[in-house]
Amino acid sequence: MNPFVQLNNVSKTFDVSAPWLNRVLERKPQTFLHAVSDVSFDIRRGETLALVGESGCGKSTVARLIVGLYAPSQGSVTVDGQDMKSAAQSTDASRALRRKVQMIFQDPYASLNPRWRVADIVAEPIRTHKLITDPAALDKRVAELLGFVKLTAKDGEKYPHQFSGGQRQRISIARALASNPEFLICDEPTSALDVSVQAQVLNLMKDLQREMGLTYLFISHNLQVVHHIADRVGVMYLGRVVEIGDKREVFGNPQHPYTRMLLDAIPDLKMTGKARTPVAGEVPNPLNPPAGCAFNPRCPKRFAPCDQSRPQTVSFKGRDVACFAAQEATP
Ligand SMILES: Nc1ncnc2c1ncn2[C@@H]1O[C@H](COP(=O)(O)OP(=O)(O)OP(=O)(O)O)[C@@H](O)[C@H]1O
Ligand SMILES: [Mg+2]
Repeated sequence: MNPFVQLNNVSKTFDVSAPWLNRVLERKPQTFLHAVSDVSFDIRRGETLALVGESGCGKSTVARLIVGLYAPSQGSVTVDGQDMKSAAQSTDASRALRRKVQMIFQDPYASLNPRWRVADIVAEPIRTHKLITDPAALDKRVAELLGFVKLTAKDGEKYPHQFSGGQRQRISIARALASNPEFLICDEPTSALDVSVQAQVLNLMKDLQREMGLTYLFISHNLQVVHHIADRVGVMYLGRVVEIGDKREVFGNPQHPYTRMLLDAIPDLKMTGKARTPVAGEVPNPLNPPAGCAFNPRCPKRFAPCDQSRPQTVSFKGRDVACFAAQEATP
């Protein structure tokens, strides 16, 4: 079966130049920020791919490229067999994709209209996509959706501010499910929640995935959350995917020094009592990235080629890695 999502050598640059007149007067060139560079991966139907990496590494930009909020500067994005570029030209195709692909954001406060009752918030996608027109059937469906996320039909009468953070995130999930989607993109969906509530929402999302056969792209900088929810993990650094593979492979036997650094910084997943090492160094300025491998200034394994050229992505030990040191270490 074809993967649900395919990214082929996708790049996204933003023009962050000063206004034209200033640029001309100050004789400055145009400036481009490479938010995402040459990213390729697949997401298979029914699986959860998690993207991790420090702030600014391009996770949300990848999400926006997949939903079609951004067009790639280079490369192609295919969702459910549809090339996003050609889908954008056709209103029917883009409407169909908007129904199939839904996004859940970090801040349910900002993404739920405070003036709408919860029932109307959840019903909105159904109305937009004209999935149900009969009012009684619509009420029934809204009650069912609230039930999926462990809320009651009565909760539909209330407003978002009457709920806790975790409940509000469940309302966002109910709304996302309203259009019968196949694919959910979850951008830091639980980062704003307490740890215990976080676990409840994650478990709910896992249950819903199993029951409805959903495919997830899950974005988080919390590796424990990712360990809990993902089937496969992609590690991003400064706009590139540096390591991607099965969760067990990537977490159990990381090959990229950056993956290792991220894993060393979290409390031991296996509880062996090993001390944690905080993530060292800072992410370079994306407007002025280092030559060669962008990670080389922070890398404990750097050697001669690392500041000369960029490592190609190579498949070995069951995952894809872009690192000279890892490649050299592997016979
Ligand atoms: N619309 C935009 N215009 C200019 N630059 C942008 C824009 N959107 C993102 N960027 C830049 O692109 C890079 C990647 O940003 P992105 O939001 O994708 O990172 P992220 O991994 O989601 O970070 P975070 O963990 O903080 O959410 C950053 O350097 C960011 O400043
Ligand atoms: Mg983000």
